[in-house]
Amino acid sequence: MKILSVVGARPQFVKLAPMAKAMESRGVDHVIVHTGQHYDVSMSDVFFRDLGIPAPDVHLAVGSDTHGRQTGAMLAKLDEALEEHRPDWVVVYGDTNSTAAGALSAVKMHIPLAHLEAGLRSFNRRMPEEHNRVVTDHLADLCLAPTEVAMGHLADEGLATRSVNVGDVMTDVLFQVRDLVAGTEPAVPSELGGRPFRVATLHRAENTDDPGRLGSIVKAISGLDTPTLLLAHPRLRARAAEHGIDLTTGSLVTADPLPYPQLVRAVMASVGVVTDSGGLQKEAFLLRVPCTTIRTETEWTETVDLGWNVLVPEPAALADAMDRPGPSETDAAPYGDGRAAGRAVEAILSHTV
Ligand code: UD1
Repeated sequence: MKILSVVGARPQFVKLAPMAKAMESRGVDHVIVHTGQHYDVSMSDVFFRDLGIPAPDVHLAVGSDTHGRQTGAMLAKLDEALEEHRPDWVVVYGDTNSTAAGALSAVKMHIPLAHLEAGLRSFNRRMPEEHNRVVTDHLADLCLAPTEVAMGHLADEGLATRSVNVGDVMTDVLFQVRDLVAGTEPAVPSELGGRPFRVATLHRAENTDDPGRLGSIVKAISGLDTPTLLLAHPRLRARAAEHGIDLTTGSLVTADPLPYPQLVRAVMASVGVVTDSGGLQKEAFLLRVPCTTIRTETEWTETVDLGWNVLVPEPAALADAMDRPGPSETDAAPYGDGRAAGRAVEAILSHTV
């Protein structure tokens, strides 16, 4: 059995790691295609290195562009890769432009398609990820959902018979990395001076590209007594520089994105997370660190329902939300038991198209 994975952006490398291991242990001939959507060493190579992922067999090197041009460039180059490798299945991951391009390429070439992390919905049609998810789920022969909530969305869209809840593969990786780094010192900047700190990330266009909004978010976070370690995505740094917004003001300490194990260790050591990332909301919950999310909605609704995540789209309300009292303890496990990848690979191998 030959399975070809299409990945391209940071969170997809994390999801690929346990899938690659599970495929290896089942003797699958696994081909990895990297679209090149993320290309900086800190956004790509370090994930392959730290998570023990085999080097990509094919690198399409598409780089950054508008959504249409970026997705189109991937489509143009994927045909060749699929033609050359002729896999039995294509697997796409999550909801980036690389996901949608991989899905469309596979179905156009009549290759069975599995979508890992299927069924997530924000119901916000302005999000590029929402288009990517909806399109990919409807093209897929097999929707591998991470949660019961996701299964519900797939059923609502008429996709129940091709969907299976395998659990969340990011939980697999997170639990393994958590146990590995638990005894290590967090690699955080010395400016934090051993004080309690929060971890922040901000990369979504709606938060970074409007100077007024970005300025208000930075002001709210940097005005708090507890310092915040801001792990700056290249887009955030570029926009802040363009708009003359200082990312080192007040109690804000800015650093480059951390390799995954160090990110996990930093979150474990922190007193809170503030973010607009999808994955980090869930990672904070799994590490039982309260999260404040600078968005109007989330795909990971369980984190909010259980009291560990609060959605705060308004910068003016951020400071109070970040300083809120901690939530009640919970032993709820809506994201599975950390063995999702094995189930996902099993589901693919046993599925007849
Ligand atoms: C993408 C995904 C998003 C995911 C995020 C994780 C889409 C539509 N979005 O968003 O779902 O949560 O990855 O990080 O697919 N850049 C660099 N170096 C890089 C990569 C990007 O400098 O290695 C800069 C470029 O200026 C680029 C911008 O970041 O234009 C945005 O990158 P892009 O991949 O288009 O989207 P992300 O915001 O990273």
